[in-house]
Amino acid sequence: MDIRFVTAGSGEVVAVMATEGGELLAAGKALDSASGGRIVKAMKAAGFKGGAGQIVEVLAPDGVDFQRVLVIGLGKPEAADGMGVERWAGHAVKRTLTAVEKLVLQPDALPGVAIAEAGAHAAMGARLASYRFDTYRTKLKPEQKPTLKAVEVVLEHTAAAKARAEVDAAIVEGVFFARDLVSEPPNVLYPESFAERLRDLETIGVEVEILEPAAMEKLGMGALLGVAQGSARPARLVAMKWNGSSVKKQKPFAIVGKGVTFDTGGISLKPGAGMDEMKGDMGGAAAVAGAMKAIALRKAKANVVGIVALVENMPGPNAMRPGDIVNTMSGQTIEVLNTDAEGRLILSDAVWYAQDKYEPVALVDLATLTGAVIVALGHEHAGMCANDEDLAHAITNAANAEGEPVWRLPLSAAYDKLIDTPNADMKNIAGKPVAGSIIGAQFIKRFIKDDTPWAHLDIAGTAWKPGPYEDPLSPAWATGYGVRLLNRLIANKYED
Ligand code: BES
Ligand code: MN
Ligand code: ZN
Repeated sequence: MDIRFVTAGSGEVVAVMATEGGELLAAGKALDSASGGRIVKAMKAAGFKGGAGQIVEVLAPDGVDFQRVLVIGLGKPEAADGMGVERWAGHAVKRTLTAVEKLVLQPDALPGVAIAEAGAHAAMGARLASYRFDTYRTKLKPEQKPTLKAVEVVLEHTAAAKARAEVDAAIVEGVFFARDLVSEPPNVLYPESFAERLRDLETIGVEVEILEPAAMEKLGMGALLGVAQGSARPARLVAMKWNGSSVKKQKPFAIVGKGVTFDTGGISLKPGAGMDEMKGDMGGAAAVAGAMKAIALRKAKANVVGIVALVENMPGPNAMRPGDIVNTMSGQTIEVLNTDAEGRLILSDAVWYAQDKYEPVALVDLATLTGAVIVALGHEHAGMCANDEDLAHAITNAANAEGEPVWRLPLSAAYDKLIDTPNADMKNIAGKPVAGSIIGAQFIKRFIKDDTPWAHLDIAGTAWKPGPYEDPLSPAWATGYGVRLLNRLIANKYED
């Protein structure tokens, strides 16, 4: 889909803004007077209230060059921000994606959103809303296929919005990369094939290093390899490096992702119903990969290393047993009491490797770690735990600005104690149904060095979402959650 910024739009369909109370903004008002009041008349007849995403479609109004005018609600004017503009544009695309070839968007400035910003957000929203994952649908009918080829965003001055939109296009590429990875079925995307897809990032200047099991064995990664040993698919650990900083020897910011390409639970087998969703258990790794792609495409002036631990968690004659004790690269031992708490096991070796090898200025891990975070926060916020106030605040700000919110949960010695065991240095579950998401974070924290600022994002509820899919910016099952957040965090905190 082509995005253009123009000073005057033309075509079949135009979308304009209205706020709660049913008030048209300037662009809509201009069309309304050109049509002799026809648009406001239609809004009244439809009982239009201007709620976010509410649409009135006015057909063939006289005096207007468009065949259809879409009046789309923004909700309360004081609450309408950049993300609100994105969703507004998203609704327009959702409505037209399979119906017309060209859509014209006429955004207006809002309190706190300058017009150039509104234009860029409109373009961003249009792009994100155009996502489809149709790779395996061979029988789509013509009317199910996207027809929308171009979106024109109308602005008086186009230069500033155009400049922002170029950067945003890189971010969208990253988000789509993550969505694609999460969407791919687990017979297609497994540790080796995932690693090969990451290898492709070399073409945009990312250094990609792939560790195979022999190398991990040498490093002592017994927890990661323990999870992998039940599968016929060998594990991979991939390090992606982007060296964009002009500061010599700048230590990198590290992002680490859980990449369980399918989680059956292992010998602690999951129930069958809904198990297919566990193809998305590599959502953390996908977010890391997507963020690396975004920062490379926009040539971020930062040093960032992205590390993903890729395994398939399967039962079988060689699988880990509950009761097994594994060694980790850190030297600490783990009693595996539940093979379904596998994410923390692979992350224990991955975060240790990240710190040992790269001495990062800070480390953020992302993982679809616990069902408990869905119980606590649903599909709206990711759970965050952090050992550093400054990093936690920076993440919260980036998350809010990008529409990928987080909610912080506590860490403490009292929770930490719950993973003590007489049989090893720690066990991988608390063994009682308490504070599941915090316990997962406390476990990972045992592999974080005292002087590493660290945050853990549990994205089990946000990497994908159950239907009905109401978010116009995320029209498929996979959301790509985390890519925008990480990109913004890097832009705000780790760039020259
Ligand atoms: N991948 C799951 C967590 C998950 C659940 C992600 C639902 C997305 C949706 C994780 O590996 C897991 O199985 N966690 C266990 C931990 C428990 C055994 C301590 C869980 O949440 O039940
Ligand atoms: Mn599991
Ligand atoms: Zn899992």
